[in-house]
Amino acid sequence: MKLFIDSGNLKEIEILVPLGIIDGITTNPSLLAKEGGDYRALLKRICQLVKGPTSAEVVATDVAGMLREGRDLRGIDEHIVVKVPFTKAGVEACKTLASEGTRVNVTLCFSATQALIAAKVGATYISPFVGRLDDIATSGMDLIQDIVDIYENYQFKTEVLVASVRHPIHVVQAARMGADICTCPAAVIEAMFKHPLTDIGLEKFLKDWEKAQGVAR
Ligand code: E4P
Repeated sequence: MKLFIDSGNLKEIEILVPLGIIDGITTNPSLLAKEGGDYRALLKRICQLVKGPTSAEVVATDVAGMLREGRDLRGIDEHIVVKVPFTKAGVEACKTLASEGTRVNVTLCFSATQALIAAKVGATYISPFVGRLDDIATSGMDLIQDIVDIYENYQFKTEVLVASVRHPIHVVQAARMGADICTCPAAVIEAMFKHPLTDIGLEKFLKDWEKAQGVAR
């Protein structure tokens, strides 16, 4: 399963990329707004660091505007994936952008029917938001299983990009279900590293070694 960072923050990206486990980045208008500054320069820098698919979202809500913004965004760097919201306009824009060879991430997916429609118009990625579904007492991960099953039934090439991830259990469940990608906030990726028994075990190994070295001297 591929691991993306859901962030527009350069510091977070610079810390995690050297670990060699990051396959791409997702941003959204809220995440980029938090960073401020020139969003085009920021996206370019992120692409240079990650050298992998980097989603940048349109903010237009009509088809012509989405196409204009999408074509402009993809011009920033070869790694840019144009993100469009799941609306009728987004679906239409996805069809056109995909036919031009642009990779499209259809975002704000909250149902299996939306995922089916996105696959039919050639989306490269579908982004179901699991955490926001959990927030309204609906299982986000059940939606992932539905989409994985449906795409498998028809051999759709669209990749399931699990979004709105809130904790490492979402990641484990997504991997068990065979989702293609999990995009996680940096804090979730940091949490995936942690186990108290690893820390305790390492501390003991080092202490024992130090003790033995002292005795030998
Ligand atoms: C996905 O691409 C979105 O940027 C993101 O996962 C949304 O997550 P949130 O629900 O934590 O805002």
